[in-house]
Amino acid sequence: MFLEIETNTKNKELKVKLQSNNEEKDNSNNNNHQTKNSDTHSKTEIELNDLNSFQKSGSVSNEKDIEQNDSEHKKSGFRVTSVQRTPCHLYLSVPKNLSSEMIIIFHTAKELKGKPQVKFGENNSPDYNLNNIGQSYEVSYDNNRWIHYVGLTGLTPNTEYKFIAGDSKDNKNWSKEKNFRTSRSYLTDDQLTFVVGADVNVVDESIEMAKMMSNYDPDFVAIGGDIALSNGNKYCYRKWDQFLDNWHNSAVHNNRLIPIMPVIGNHEVMEGYRYKTEPDTKKAPFFFTLFQQDANIKKDPFDQKPYRVHHISENLAITPLDTHHIYTENEQIDFMNDNYQKLRDDNVKHIIPIYHIPAYPSDKEYSVSSSTRVRTFWTDLFDIYKIKLAFEGHSHLLKKTKPLYGGKAVDQNKGTIFLGDGAWGRLRDSREDGVLRWYEEYISSTR
Ligand SMILES: [Fe+2]
Repeated sequence: MFLEIETNTKNKELKVKLQSNNEEKDNSNNNNHQTKNSDTHSKTEIELNDLNSFQKSGSVSNEKDIEQNDSEHKKSGFRVTSVQRTPCHLYLSVPKNLSSEMIIIFHTAKELKGKPQVKFGENNSPDYNLNNIGQSYEVSYDNNRWIHYVGLTGLTPNTEYKFIAGDSKDNKNWSKEKNFRTSRSYLTDDQLTFVVGADVNVVDESIEMAKMMSNYDPDFVAIGGDIALSNGNKYCYRKWDQFLDNWHNSAVHNNRLIPIMPVIGNHEVMEGYRYKTEPDTKKAPFFFTLFQQDANIKKDPFDQKPYRVHHISENLAITPLDTHHIYTENEQIDFMNDNYQKLRDDNVKHIIPIYHIPAYPSDKEYSVSSSTRVRTFWTDLFDIYKIKLAFEGHSHLLKKTKPLYGGKAVDQNKGTIFLGDGAWGRLRDSREDGVLRWYEEYISSTR
């Protein structure tokens, strides 16, 4: 599913186009698709930008290939060379202010000699005349890995930059040149294109969708939960590796990487974690360590919150929320009241929440408790703050509701339209009866 958003402040309208490739597919076998990486990599097949290959080759210990004078390989189980400081999984995370900031993230299989660094410049400048230093965070899967975050601030709106990323104390082993683009500072009659989806997975269909969405040249993509379906299990890190590898190769437009705005879903947390005593972000290890949400990088990524505000422009804000995967819906009411009121005071025309469990489900029954909670705690706030559009996921169908206000369908000039429901890489058959519910305007199992 694609949603193309046009903002037109002159006419005070927000247009949404649903795009479909009209290709109906059965999802029943999706879970049987497996990642493309095989276990047949030998050391000579290692590609410099593929950390997966390092780790897979590391699991196949071939003493002939290991330099005897390199003691570190004995600890890690694979050959330590300088290429392990070569950035891989180079990708972008949407910052708090997309018109003036960017977050660049890369991984290495070995600790850097210096600090993670990004050298960059406007596309038309002769060289990389700007640079910034970031922070690293060490994670441990089968082997240790370092995730590096570099936040860039003070950027010029609506500008494309070129950049490379690497080790501040190593002139070699830097990434290839890529591009990123800031958004417009204020949306007038210009079109802003962004893509929203959910329930991605690492199947072939997900790659097809990523390529298709890249053709729209979007400023960013918001993924409303259930991204790599790792269930927060650190031994399933290869699913995330595959996702990021797919993303790096497919979510790119003319060498420009497309920033990700991740949203937490039930498959981001261990065993569908819903806390009993204290909220614990450690239950979603990939969600918090693979992404940062603020160009002022958090030293401990687990200090981040899954609910937050991203300013895409001065008049458009998107607010990811947590449908009780870590924090309860109830706990976010103060956050929503405070921030939505402030956004309205600041004349932010469009406020768009995005979250995983749908208030108005297209698959499960209307009365299912997880959806009832979303309606109980949040949809009144959507009415109060005149939210026109909310993005949902989880049901694996394509859905658009009628405008809803006070829990009832209303005319087009009032209420919130709920769009979803998470059919990026996962699909299910349409409901058997095929009859639209009172709140639905459209549902389909067509991606
Ligand atoms: Fe889900």
